[in-house]
Amino acid sequence: MPASHAAPPKSPAPWGEGFFDADYLRLWSELVPQVRTEQDASGIWSLLGLEPGARVLDAPCGYGRLSLLLARRGASVLGVDWSAALLEEAERRRGDLPPGRLRYRRHDLREPLEEEDMDAAVNVLSSLGYGTEDEDRDILRTVGGAVRPGGRVLIETLHRDAFVASYSRGVRFSQRFADGTLMVEEPRFDALAGRVETSWHWCGPRGSGAKTASLRIYTLTELARLLESVGLQLISAHQGCSSQPFDPAGPDAGGRVGLLARTPSE
Ligand SMILES: C[S@@+](CC[C@H](N)C(=O)[O-])C[C@H]1O[C@@H](n2cnc3c(N)ncnc32)[C@H](O)[C@@H]1O
Repeated sequence: MPASHAAPPKSPAPWGEGFFDADYLRLWSELVPQVRTEQDASGIWSLLGLEPGARVLDAPCGYGRLSLLLARRGASVLGVDWSAALLEEAERRRGDLPPGRLRYRRHDLREPLEEEDMDAAVNVLSSLGYGTEDEDRDILRTVGGAVRPGGRVLIETLHRDAFVASYSRGVRFSQRFADGTLMVEEPRFDALAGRVETSWHWCGPRGSGAKTASLRIYTLTELARLLESVGLQLISAHQGCSSQPFDPAGPDAGGRVGLLARTPSE
C-alpha cells in the first residue's frame, strides 16, 4: 500500500506535528552524506550478522536512507515511520525493488506492530527522545516486540556525555548548503531534565524558516536501563553503527553510540 494511503497515526504527539515535514526532508536529508549512510549500512549488516533474505525492521525509517541500502544488499526490509512526507520520499527512492524486499508502513511506533518474526531491528540516527521516557519505552517495546526470540536489535544515538562535551566547549552547529542557504542551530540544555531544546534557523535561496524540537538525551547507563526495562538484553556498545567498541576517551566522549542487544531466547 502506498504510504500516503495508509492510516494516519492514532494520536500524534504535539511535538511531532509538522516537524518531520517537507522542510525537514529538504534540509535535513542533505546533512547526512551518502558516504555516511553507506558506512552505517555496512556496519549494521555486520553488527546484526545479516545474510541475504534476513527480515529486518527499520523503525523509524525516515525517508528510507538505510532501508533502501539494506534491501539492496539482499535483506527483506520493513521500514516504519509516522511521517507521510518522509515515507512518500522513501517510496520515490525505492527504484525497482519489489515489495517482498522493501515495504514501508505509516505507523506510530508508540503502538505495537503486528510483526513478531523479524530477524533483527534497527532504531538509528537519534530516533528516540522526542517524547517522554515512557513513550521511548513504548517505542523500544514495539521495536523489540517485532523481533523473533534471540534476534538482534541495534539502537544508535547521541548520548549525553558526547553532547555535553561539545556543548560545554561552546561548539554550535551550522551548515552552508551548496546553494548558499545557511542553517544555524541554537541549543539550550536543561541538565536537570536531560533535555536539549533546539531551534534551527535557515535563510538563503531556498527561503527562510525555523523549527524547534525538544530532545531527551540519555547517558549510556540510562539507555542500557531503558533497553533492559523492555526485556532487551544488552550485548555490547559500539562507536555509532560500526563494529568498533565504544570508547569514551577523547574530546567527543566517544561520539555517537550504538547499543547492540538481543531479544530473550525462548
Ligand atoms: C532523525 S530521523 C531518523 C530516521 C532514520 N532512522 C534514519 O536513520 O534516517 C527520526 C525519525 O523518527 C520518526 N519518528 C519519531 N517518533 C516516531 C513515532 N512515535 N512513530 C514513528 N516514527 C517516529 C520521525 O518521523 C523521523 O523520521
